[in-house]
Amino acid sequence: RIAYVNGRYLPHRDATVHVEDRGYQFADGVYEVCEVWAGHLVDEARHLDRLDRSLSELRIPTPMTRKALSAVLHEVVRRNGVKDGLVYLQVTRGVARRDHAFPAPGTMPGLVVTARRSDRGGQEALAARGVSVITVPENRWPRVDIKSTSLLPNVLAKQQAKEAGAREAWFVDQDGFVTEGASTNAWIVTADRRIVTRPAESGILRGITRTVVLEEAAALGYTVEERPFTVDEAHGAAEAFITAATTVVMPVVRIDDRPVANGAPGTVATALRLKFHAFSA
Ligand code: PDD
Repeated sequence: RIAYVNGRYLPHRDATVHVEDRGYQFADGVYEVCEVWAGHLVDEARHLDRLDRSLSELRIPTPMTRKALSAVLHEVVRRNGVKDGLVYLQVTRGVARRDHAFPAPGTMPGLVVTARRSDRGGQEALAARGVSVITVPENRWPRVDIKSTSLLPNVLAKQQAKEAGAREAWFVDQDGFVTEGASTNAWIVTADRRIVTRPAESGILRGITRTVVLEEAAALGYTVEERPFTVDEAHGAAEAFITAATTVVMPVVRIDDRPVANGAPGTVATALRLKFHAFSA
């Protein structure tokens, strides 16, 4: 395997960054995960748009032009022979003597890109069975709209899910509304087949998969409601599912040890999963 690290393509085992990189010391960085499907970077432009936004919200300089960055992403995918998988990119505020405030202007941002194949068969088998989620209290900072590498609450929630035999943890805010998963957006389908997901204006990351699924659902004639939903409503829903570049549309069949409907993947989630790539760019 090959990784890109600050201007060089290196064997994966030698792909290291400096101990004073601010990504390492402060989690002072942002990232993107983009699906590679049939050799194509799914919704690349939207991922790069969101990267630009995350960088500008944190006032981290852009490491290189979009054209150059796109070339690096494609090159890492090519050098790793990835046809179906994921490409990961991370930009940090760079290497500087440890000090919380920003380093001197002109400090080069750090850029790392890796790619790996995904287990398509395993993912499809999982989607055919559906996954379990647990719910945990929301304890993240309010700027979850920024795709930052500061992910400790997400790490702890995901581990808690894993230890409970679940695949994902849904954060629940003080009013009982689900915000999103530790690494996915959360959705339900009501008994009258309305698709519900939280508005991206507060409490969640505006997932690229979420945006595409909203467009797909509308094109397929479903009614979509962007509104918060509670854990209680999710427990009584006809279907539930999660979305992310890593899972695309993944049916949820259990929430906190209670089955969703009959405990099998729903028809809406399954239809959205099947047709997803026809709507992505
Ligand atoms: N996670 N919400 C959170 C908190 C996320 O971390 C992610 C993605 C999403 C879905 O976004 P998208 O559809 O653009 O992948 C929502 C990535 C995949 C990760 O951390 O691995």
